[in-house]
Amino acid sequence: MPEPQSPRARRVYLETYGCQMNVADSQTVTTVLLNAGYGTASRPEDADVILLNTCAIRDHAEERVLKRLGDLAHLKRARPKLKLGLLGCMAQHNRSAILQNASCLDLVAGPDSYRRLPELIEHASFDPAIDVRLDRSETYADISAAHSGGVRAYVTVMRGCDRFCAFCVVPYVRGRERSLNPQSLMREIRALAAQGVREIVLLGQTVNAYRHCEIDFGSLLRMAAQVDGVERIRFTSPHPSDMSDSIIEAIASEPKVMPQIHLPVQSGSDRMLAAMDRGYTVAEYLALVDRVRRAISGVALSTDIIVGFHGEDDRDFEATLDLMRTVGYDSAFSFKYSVREHTRAFKLGDSVSETVKGARLQAVIALQEEIALRRNRALVGDVFPVLIEGPARRGGGMMAGKTPQFKTAIFPAREDAALGTTLPFRVESVTAHSLMGSLA
Ligand code: 5AD
Ligand code: SF4
Repeated sequence: MPEPQSPRARRVYLETYGCQMNVADSQTVTTVLLNAGYGTASRPEDADVILLNTCAIRDHAEERVLKRLGDLAHLKRARPKLKLGLLGCMAQHNRSAILQNASCLDLVAGPDSYRRLPELIEHASFDPAIDVRLDRSETYADISAAHSGGVRAYVTVMRGCDRFCAFCVVPYVRGRERSLNPQSLMREIRALAAQGVREIVLLGQTVNAYRHCEIDFGSLLRMAAQVDGVERIRFTSPHPSDMSDSIIEAIASEPKVMPQIHLPVQSGSDRMLAAMDRGYTVAEYLALVDRVRRAISGVALSTDIIVGFHGEDDRDFEATLDLMRTVGYDSAFSFKYSVREHTRAFKLGDSVSETVKGARLQAVIALQEEIALRRNRALVGDVFPVLIEGPARRGGGMMAGKTPQFKTAIFPAREDAALGTTLPFRVESVTAHSLMGSLA
């Protein structure tokens, strides 16, 4: 975040939880507050206002925030003028419970209320200020998210979700689907390219459901690929049922659109998929994987898996492991089912014990490690163009970047290997999570 504009500007410390959409929303929040004359603080101790941008997807995410609020309440007791605010999905999800339990809160703002934040902070001087109205038209299209530097930037192209999967709280906390105007999106992407961004990630809760008048997501990918200076385009997260031929063709034919797709499957059992209201069967999902792999050479696939959804028995779970073996994902995010209030599955119950959920999660993780390691081993000796991002986390003079498939490449630093350049990299050894080698 930029440093405060003047020593007298009130300073805001913003902490972000959850998905990439929240990270992008926090950048929008930063712009709103900077425009209103606030400065930013990099530590809670230096701030006049502390905001937590929260996630409600699983119980665990909410517990973390409640615990953090407990810590911050101490700061507030020592400095009563400090204002404490809760933003995002959790604010929307269980505001009454939060207000009852967190008397330290001065303001609560849902994902469609960020334009009013300066006003809410102001009003919080008197009473807790609350705005959790969902707005079918709010897209923040005119507010450029403050880019935090680096070679990659995230651009929100649609907000909300209309799918209502039985387990998921997102449609309730983020509201109805709405797509941003393609012209303002292209303006934003051009501005990011001018700031040195090389890779753009298009974001949306069901990003491939994007539609603005005649422009569908396939056309949007093609438009983004026309922007000079942008080298790579990715997107997340699509829904399998919205993966049209137009999108697959755009990925296959636009060299700037990277061969990498996150295709959340959730379960490998038709019975569970139906109970989850996912809108596809295992056979339909596998046919999509087939279509994608035929059209896009070298495509990497990743997924999301939920274990222990209500009613999941051993056979259903075995079917998920089978599907993982059949597809052979490059990576997978797996989660224990967490019952969410307001969702359709809330009333069904939670039949799988915590112990069984834990054991199933471990089995999914172990199988995925095995599959990813096998897939990465097959790449030894291959050469990939790697977009260089900076020093590797492990240090020791090593640098890191990403292959087109979004695999992490780690290699010894070299003088010509500047941040933001793309250079050929040869794979010499691998783990399940990264490729080690040298610039070719
Ligand atoms: N419990 C567990 N995981 C969930 N997800 C969404 N809702 C829940 C829930 N109630 C997972 C899904 C989704 C990812 C973002 O989070 O796998 O794709
Ligand atoms: Fe949630 Fe389903 Fe929408 Fe994804 S598509 S955000 S899982 S309701």
